[in-house]
Amino acid sequence: MTSFEFNTTRSIINEPGSIKRLGEICTRLGFERPLVVTDPGIVKAGLLEKLTASLDASGTSYALYTDIVADPPVETIMATLEAAKAHNADGIIGFGGGSSMDAAKIAALLLRSDEKLEDIYGVGMAKGERAPLILIPTTAGTGSEVTAVAIVTTGPNTKAGVVANQLYPDVALLDAELTLGLPPIVTAATGVDAMVHAIEAYTSIHLKNPYSDMLAQKALELLSKNLKPVIADGSNLAARQNMLFGACLAGQAFANAPVAAVHALAYPLGARYHIAHGTSNALLLPHVLRFNAPNAASLYAELAPICFDNVPTGSDEKTALWFADQLEQLSLDVGLPPRMRDAGVLANDLDLLAEEAMGQTRLLKNNPREVTQSDARDIYEAAY
Ligand SMILES: NC(=O)c1ccc[n+]([C@@H]2O[C@H](COP(=O)([O-])OP(=O)(O)OC[C@H]3O[C@@H](n4cnc5c(N)ncnc54)[C@H](O)[C@@H]3O)[C@@H](O)[C@H]2O)c1
Ligand SMILES: [Fe+2]
Repeated sequence: MTSFEFNTTRSIINEPGSIKRLGEICTRLGFERPLVVTDPGIVKAGLLEKLTASLDASGTSYALYTDIVADPPVETIMATLEAAKAHNADGIIGFGGGSSMDAAKIAALLLRSDEKLEDIYGVGMAKGERAPLILIPTTAGTGSEVTAVAIVTTGPNTKAGVVANQLYPDVALLDAELTLGLPPIVTAATGVDAMVHAIEAYTSIHLKNPYSDMLAQKALELLSKNLKPVIADGSNLAARQNMLFGACLAGQAFANAPVAAVHALAYPLGARYHIAHGTSNALLLPHVLRFNAPNAASLYAELAPICFDNVPTGSDEKTALWFADQLEQLSLDVGLPPRMRDAGVLANDLDLLAEEAMGQTRLLKNNPREVTQSDARDIYEAAY
């Protein structure tokens, strides 16, 4: 028997076109004056009109904050909060990728509780209640709509996470019509990010549990089967909805069985070079899996046939290495850069990156194999 605790978003709506129901959902939750939080890319893609049409139809008195900066820095979070206060908002709607949703989550918390952002970084540090919150992802990647995490850029090369159960929204709305225009490179990076969430949840050593395993397996089935189809044809609505649902399942898995060394080593790439989060993960994924294989081969061997056909017969170790090779090929097939050098990383920085990765203790402690600074350096070297 396994003892565990499992938390997730209370209400998840998985339906193409469900953005039309947003007004009705606000009414159900008792929203009258929500702030809609999004970024300029979403506005440019013409997605905001779909959202405002639904709120207009229900007569909701919303205000818009459309200036979210990717990998939101502290100033962006504070500006979002100010916009919510200026509107006298009674709820928040986060609309976009992980950046917009994460900013919305923290704004909803700080709007209701009097805590200061600098006091709530870390696990369980936030104590107050949040305002009502709806999250609507427009990328199939972070799973932020079902995680208790929000990531903030705190300095030129640093990020910090707020982890608190209050950050689960009241409702997550998964409408793949919003993802039809997602550019191929964003589709690829965010899709691989979601796969990494599922893989790392499945091998997470402390909190892995039967629920997270089930979710990670189903997530990988959906994501691996639908990623190439959505790259080939971005307008494939059924495949897009499967990606969105897969990313959500992966989010539920890693919200309860946290991610590990792939993410720990990817973060310094994002912080230092502004490489997209999913791309950073894709660059490191096969190399971390090869490093982990001695300790996690049987688990990788369980995931291999879920993701890929024609798994070769042989030992778990052999299958695990084959799995890493297949994932590396998949990243290439969907157009992601092959090596860190192709993404602009400087060879002279590998020592520095290894030092920075060691700071990600919250993530490294979940890895199936202990990572020393010299191991991290070797993994970066292999990925370079
Ligand atoms: N909270 C969590 O659990 C969690 C997990 C992983 C990552 N993150 C964080 O999430 C952020 C990354 O999120 P992301 O990868 O979703 O990217 P993002 O939110 O930064 O968006 C990337 C770009 O894609 C554009 N875009 C998004 N949806 C679009 C659409 N449908 N059509 C056209 N353009 C669209 C945006 O305008 C933006 O320019 C990082 O800050 C990362 O640290 C959070
Ligand atoms: Fe991620």
